[in-house]
Amino acid sequence: MTEQIQTLTITAPDDWHIHLRDNDALKTTVPHVASQFRRAICMPNLVPPVKTTQDAIAYRERILANVPTDSISQQFEPLMVLYLTENLTPQDIQDAVDSGVVKAVKLYPAGATTNSADGVTNINNCTDVFAKMESIGLPLLVHGEVTHNHVDIFDREKRFIDEVLTHLIVKFPKLKIVFEHITTSDAADFVISQSKNIAATITPQHLLFNRNHLLVGGVKPHFYCLPILKRQSHQEVLLDVATSGNPKFFIGTDSAPHATHTKENACGCAGCYSAPFALSLYAQAFDSVGKLENLENFTSINGAKFYGLPVNSDKVTLVRESWQVPENYEYVGNKTLTPLMAGQMLDWKVLPFGFAV
Ligand code: DOR
Ligand code: ZN
Repeated sequence: MTEQIQTLTITAPDDWHIHLRDNDALKTTVPHVASQFRRAICMPNLVPPVKTTQDAIAYRERILANVPTDSISQQFEPLMVLYLTENLTPQDIQDAVDSGVVKAVKLYPAGATTNSADGVTNINNCTDVFAKMESIGLPLLVHGEVTHNHVDIFDREKRFIDEVLTHLIVKFPKLKIVFEHITTSDAADFVISQSKNIAATITPQHLLFNRNHLLVGGVKPHFYCLPILKRQSHQEVLLDVATSGNPKFFIGTDSAPHATHTKENACGCAGCYSAPFALSLYAQAFDSVGKLENLENFTSINGAKFYGLPVNSDKVTLVRESWQVPENYEYVGNKTLTPLMAGQMLDWKVLPFGFAV
């Protein structure tokens, strides 16, 4: 029998998809992300959304104001994203790139998820913007679900591939696209079949869980996110591609805070909070299939390469040590935030940056 790996030292990771929210929420979310990640793509679905470069610059400042003052945390770099609306122009794209602050544009089909009401209703109204992004090399990040009421919630990702994404790629073959938080084997297969311009992020919850975890034995609101968890066979394929080392797949936690009472609710919000310990969750997933040797590619290499950014130069160490996920964290207005896997045990502990064994 081969010996179990006990420690793992890898290049410091980035999170290519996170929701930090705004104002007082940043007091909770920013220290958490800065303790785990060197950089993070900060989603723009605020109220109101981050629609202009000016908005992005101001939001970035609010994030930076909440980074803890120690020298390690201070290395954290928020990467900003514009929220695509049908009013965005090619000149706005040029300005965004020139700012040096904006690293992508996010497509939310209107009504697809939290704060997506200002998103895109008719994608054909964005043609000039996509052409500009294609020529300038600015990635489009896609929430890949159709939103029609008559389409079953479990089919919405597949329908998006067939009805939207396939056509978008034919029209703009050089446009860099990140298919965010993929949840199906259809999405994984699709990404693999496309050129190197098409990549995907995968969340820890979609690697570790499936819809049985959400629904069997009672509804578990802390497993509810969008796109919704799918059946086990999809989970297995996601785990397979994430751990394969294929550069098209990389980390994107989609950590999305909602106060406990808004999730444990008759109309519960969508989103799983994992920012403080997401790397442990991914290690758990990779370990479950004996693929820890590919964790670093997924968490620390593939994403940076896709975005054309340098790979981090420092390291982080994980140790095999059982620890318990907190029941909750403090959140805005004396409320609490219940994380994914609250109170459960995890096998991998991440040492603070700068520590080794
Ligand atoms: O579960 C989700 N939560 N999915 C999303 O697409 C948005 C996110 C949020 O902002 O809460
Ligand atoms: Zn998200």
